[in-house]
Amino acid sequence: MIKEEKIIVMDFGGQYNQLIARRVRENNIYCEIVPYNTSIDKIKEMEPSGIIFTGGPDVVYEKNAPICDERILQLGIPVLGICYGAQLIAYLKRGNVEKAKSREYGKTNIRFDTNSLLFKNLKDRSICWMSHTYQISKLPEGFIATANTDNCPIAAMELPEKKLYAVQFHPEVVHTEQGKEILSNYLFNVCHCKGTWKMDSFFEKSVKEIKEKVRNGKVLCALSGGVDSSVAAVLLSKAVGKQLTCVFVDHGFLRKNEGDEVEAVFGKNGLYDLNFIRVNAKERFYDRLKGIEDPETKRKIIGEEFIRVFEDVSKKIGQVDYLVQGTIYPDVIESGLGKSDVIKSHHNVGGLPSVVNFKEIIEPLRLLFKDEVRKLGLEMGIPENLVYRQPFPGPGLAIRIIGDITEEKIRIVQDADYIFREEIAKANLDKNINQYFAALTNMRSVGCMGDERTYDYAIALRAVTTSDFMTAEAAKIPYEVIEKVANRIVNEVSGVSRVLYDYTTKPPATIEFE
Ligand code: XMP
Repeated sequence: MIKEEKIIVMDFGGQYNQLIARRVRENNIYCEIVPYNTSIDKIKEMEPSGIIFTGGPDVVYEKNAPICDERILQLGIPVLGICYGAQLIAYLKRGNVEKAKSREYGKTNIRFDTNSLLFKNLKDRSICWMSHTYQISKLPEGFIATANTDNCPIAAMELPEKKLYAVQFHPEVVHTEQGKEILSNYLFNVCHCKGTWKMDSFFEKSVKEIKEKVRNGKVLCALSGGVDSSVAAVLLSKAVGKQLTCVFVDHGFLRKNEGDEVEAVFGKNGLYDLNFIRVNAKERFYDRLKGIEDPETKRKIIGEEFIRVFEDVSKKIGQVDYLVQGTIYPDVIESGLGKSDVIKSHHNVGGLPSVVNFKEIIEPLRLLFKDEVRKLGLEMGIPENLVYRQPFPGPGLAIRIIGDITEEKIRIVQDADYIFREEIAKANLDKNINQYFAALTNMRSVGCMGDERTYDYAIALRAVTTSDFMTAEAAKIPYEVIEKVANRIVNEVSGVSRVLYDYTTKPPATIEFE
């Protein structure tokens, strides 16, 4: 555990919990999300400078509503309750919570009492983001109301002597105009944080901790070439050098040249001192996928085969002491850390622990957000193209070819995708689009080339902007760029007669085609 100034975010199931943690870290203060039912002893042991109760969908009075240990409010540690968290403080302190006369949702005019430490130096009238049906209807004893809206007379309340603060609105979302200032006021004026947490201190601390843990042990890492596993591998190699072995399984569904690019960075003549093993296993994967059309079956087979390949390699490597995984914080949260619903279940290397002979798993990035992982990667000298690599699904191009897979189709989609990526980079759009790729639709259509009639495949281009990959919009790529890409693909990639651009949002479509 990292021992330093920290804020705890208690998860009551709100949809913005990650955002709260982010906002805290943006103030250079380390922050962890913990389940709402974390024991009081555990909390004391963590020695937080402050605790934030998140929002959540429940109503405090209802059966099964998440309620934390009420003694947390007596520890003398500053608490800020947001939305449900605010109502919970009112409930635990014997105030009242009732259904509001009219539900408030969206941007709402609010008035602040700027004598409050929380609203110090703010404009007294502003806009906040509300999303609630219930609200505090009666102040608990000793508390004062410090903000109100037309429909919510107690939009904020506090008991400064006990360091208890509550806001009905959401300061963490950008729609609350002075939200950043309110959170900073809480962190610096109420909790008296110093804001000294930095990426470089994370690097040094992690290297030290890993060294102490691993000692002379042998470490194994499955490297996919993606940002997370690359950064995890480099961090380990900085800590234990040649005691680390990295295995990179090339399943034959990577993008054009990608396998060689990964090898160039991590291999024998690369940038780091580690044992790098590239396993070229495409025949095995292609064989097993012959004639398979169903997307989920493809995913399952690839997952299983990956494990089998890894099993074979690890037999050769023998017993290792530690297995490294590139798990990052959103993965930890999505796998059901607190009360928030489990949303996604895409796992690339989920079954590895069952076939590798090891003592313990090391997950050095499990408390970092994606952009923090990138910062750390850059700091350790990982090339920018790897650090900013767009996300790529574990099953790779296999789920970007609709229906059955052949080597010819792989060649087509690789070449088309390469052209698309090249033109996006040339147009300087690569950092603004979160994910973009070519997919093979498996639809053939009539075309003409010279005097000849053709009957070839249609390629679909997909480019999306998204902040969380749960929802996405089609990227607004300039028409000239799409036109150039389409022209180049039909001219340079044999077997393609048509290029389509996918304008669908997610939902209802997904980002990938399968
Ligand atoms: P969808 O297609 O569900 O994708 O909108 C959301 C994000 O998840 C990635 N994705 C996967 N990643 N294994 C992975 O590692 C998978 O099977 C998989 N399927 C989708 C997708 O690329 C996007 O970033």
